[in-house]
Amino acid sequence: MQKQNKTTKNYILSLDADRWLFHADVLVDKAHVVMLKERGIIKRDEVSAILNSLTKIEERGEDFIEHELPSYEDVHTAIESVLIREIGEDKGGRMHTGRSRNDEVATCIRIALRDELLEMMKEVHGLRRAIIEKAAENVDTIMPGYTHLQHAQPTPFAHHFLAHSDAFARDFSRLVNAYEHTNVSPLGAAAFASTGFPVDRERTAKLLGFDSVLENSMDAVSTRDFIIETISCYANLMTNLSRLAEEIILWSTSEFDFVRLPEEYATGSSIMPQKRNPDYAELVRARTGTVHGCLMGVLSICKALPYSYNRDLQEVTPHLLQATETTTASVAVMKSIVEGLELKKEEMEKKAQIGFTTATELADTIVRETGISFRTAHKIVSSLASVLADENMESIKEQESEKAFVAEILPRIDDFAMSIVGKKLSEMGLTEKKVKEALNIASNIQKRNVKGGPAKKEVLRMQRARRMDLEKEEKSREAKEERVRRSLEELEREVKKKKKVIKVIKK
Ligand code: ARG
Repeated sequence: MQKQNKTTKNYILSLDADRWLFHADVLVDKAHVVMLKERGIIKRDEVSAILNSLTKIEERGEDFIEHELPSYEDVHTAIESVLIREIGEDKGGRMHTGRSRNDEVATCIRIALRDELLEMMKEVHGLRRAIIEKAAENVDTIMPGYTHLQHAQPTPFAHHFLAHSDAFARDFSRLVNAYEHTNVSPLGAAAFASTGFPVDRERTAKLLGFDSVLENSMDAVSTRDFIIETISCYANLMTNLSRLAEEIILWSTSEFDFVRLPEEYATGSSIMPQKRNPDYAELVRARTGTVHGCLMGVLSICKALPYSYNRDLQEVTPHLLQATETTTASVAVMKSIVEGLELKKEEMEKKAQIGFTTATELADTIVRETGISFRTAHKIVSSLASVLADENMESIKEQESEKAFVAEILPRIDDFAMSIVGKKLSEMGLTEKKVKEALNIASNIQKRNVKGGPAKKEVLRMQRARRMDLEKEEKSREAKEERVRRSLEELEREVKKKKKVIKVIKK
């Protein structure tokens, strides 16, 4: 026989994932054994010995993970083997009755992931709150809104930031869906064909805090689509996060100069003493790629896998773990960055004027005042914009005298109107007053008061509504947590009861 060396021996292991699954596996073992007893499949003293030994293994915790786990093929084998070592095979060897590692591992992953998803929802909640509060502080802070990264129209910072919080609200609801598809129990499916022992799948599902049983036993052990779905949610969330990170990186440059990064989230340069680099935000941007990679990894592993279980499925779990840890940490980092972000309000407002950001409103005003079509008004204002850009005069506030500037604009509009429509707009109802109003950035914003627009009334309404959504969603998240907690308490009560038996008998 060929001997294996360390490298080939370790090839089959997935230690990090197994460490992650340790606590879930102990729970699954407990629930399974409690159910086996209730169904009369194993005897009282056997149950008591198994549960007592399991408790010891659980209490060893980190010590078990560090010293026992690496010697076995996986966490399931490790726990069962140590248990048999402690209480003998006649008793310990009964724990795995009516079960396979296939349903066991699928159940463990779902339990571990369910907890991570609840944690992730909490983090996303925190991020959304931070964004909404930062928006609330900046309802009157005006910034240039961008298209193609060029100044487009003025907008309140709050409106821009609330857009990010809406994206994360959708991420939150995607996580809720992923949770619902995750929190179902495959236990009792065994290898795939279930078992001839009269196991009670509903009971183990209940004891483990699952919402229901994943019915078809072939499906139960074969699928990892809940992992694909979860990492897809992360990938989407990370994409949204990286867009926010990217904006914050841009805004902190001297070119934009809109924000100052919180001290703890800016780093220095080893050579340039003046630097405050946005390394944390950059890593959020980079780790988005890592999470996308995890998704690709899992999709590729699962693609074309024949039913039911194949060892390939083990290779999925580390990707899930990496994606989960990376995403949770990235959300936490971005939340802190947002909380500590200092806005340079004056700088933002000054820049909001640059680039003729009021041109759209000027064209709209022409339409309203003169009755010509929007396309024609667009042509006239577009010609005006070109000459103003050439003369570097697009910013009304930067002109010496606002009044003189406005007075000069109307005749120019008339000149272009003459060549484009053969008429002067000043003779068709366009006044200096209306032109001036159109060129004012604050009034630009206030006019855009349609549902979801940047006008103050709408921004305040959305802010209130989002705060209420947050409350509601946090309550429903807490309710999920509570349901799981109650089930696990019931499991512990059952374990405690059934553990005692042996002591009673011994007396
Ligand atoms: N460590 C394995 C995994 O993660 C457990 C299941 C092993 N099952 C088997 N039939 N070899 O998938």
